[in-house]
Amino acid sequence: MIECKNITKVYKNGDEETTVLKGVSFKIEDGEFVAITGPSGSGKSTLMHILGCLDTPTSGSYFLDGRDVSKLSDNQLADVRSNQIGFVFQSFNLLSRTTVMRNVTLPLVYSGVPDAEHDGRAAQALRAAGLPEERWNFKSNQLSGGQIQRVAIARSLVNNPSVIMADEPTGNLDSKTGEIVLGTFQQLNKEHGATIILITHDSDIAHHADRVISIKDGLIIEDKKNTKQKVVDHALL
Ligand SMILES: Nc1ncnc2c1ncn2[C@@H]1O[C@H](COP(=O)(O)OP(=O)(O)OP(=O)(O)O)[C@@H](O)[C@H]1O
Ligand SMILES: [Mg+2]
Repeated sequence: MIECKNITKVYKNGDEETTVLKGVSFKIEDGEFVAITGPSGSGKSTLMHILGCLDTPTSGSYFLDGRDVSKLSDNQLADVRSNQIGFVFQSFNLLSRTTVMRNVTLPLVYSGVPDAEHDGRAAQALRAAGLPEERWNFKSNQLSGGQIQRVAIARSLVNNPSVIMADEPTGNLDSKTGEIVLGTFQQLNKEHGATIILITHDSDIAHHADRVISIKDGLIIEDKKNTKQKVVDHALL
């Protein structure tokens, strides 16, 4: 479970201070599919970096599975990032001249999973992300945008994280490919029980989640169940 209590974030550059988050509180239970939405510059990525233990708040507290994140050592934080959270970054961050398999197994190397398990775990993640097997030995610069996004999703899944955080995962995709990626998240949520946090500036994309938290100027302006969840047809996947 994720719990934020009155989180603020102030960036300091010389004399200039920018307050980006102004006291944000919410809980996300295991197995929820939550969209965090808001206009550009509202603080979404800043919040995701804090939730993902990539950055720390200026004040307030953040509990992940009941543990106060501010009390964890650097090693413990690295451990949380590599084993508990799967990240899908907007810019993908894949190695372009490296095969799909290698890109997906890399996080296993960092988390010390025995070599013998790598291919099996990568295959499982690639299947869950819906990348056809005949593409697994392609290099990532030989794939389409949607296929690359599936590799990025597979890579985020390979350590079996309990939470997947995706920052504008459909930002670079055409609308049909975007729908497929959102359907993949819905499937991971419904069938594998993963908690999904989807960051988007687009309210239409946010409607694929079952709860929408809206932020504006660093404050939550709305947090509600989405009763009209847009469910992607399985036949598309
Ligand atoms: N390192 C930094 N130093 C100073 N200001 C920063 C820093 N990083 C982000 N900001 C500012 O914080 C605000 C929020 O940035 P953030 O990246 O969280 O927005 P966002 O909601 O993700 O926007 P977008 O939809 O464009 O990705 C912006 O005004 C940005 O200029
Ligand atoms: Mg952003």
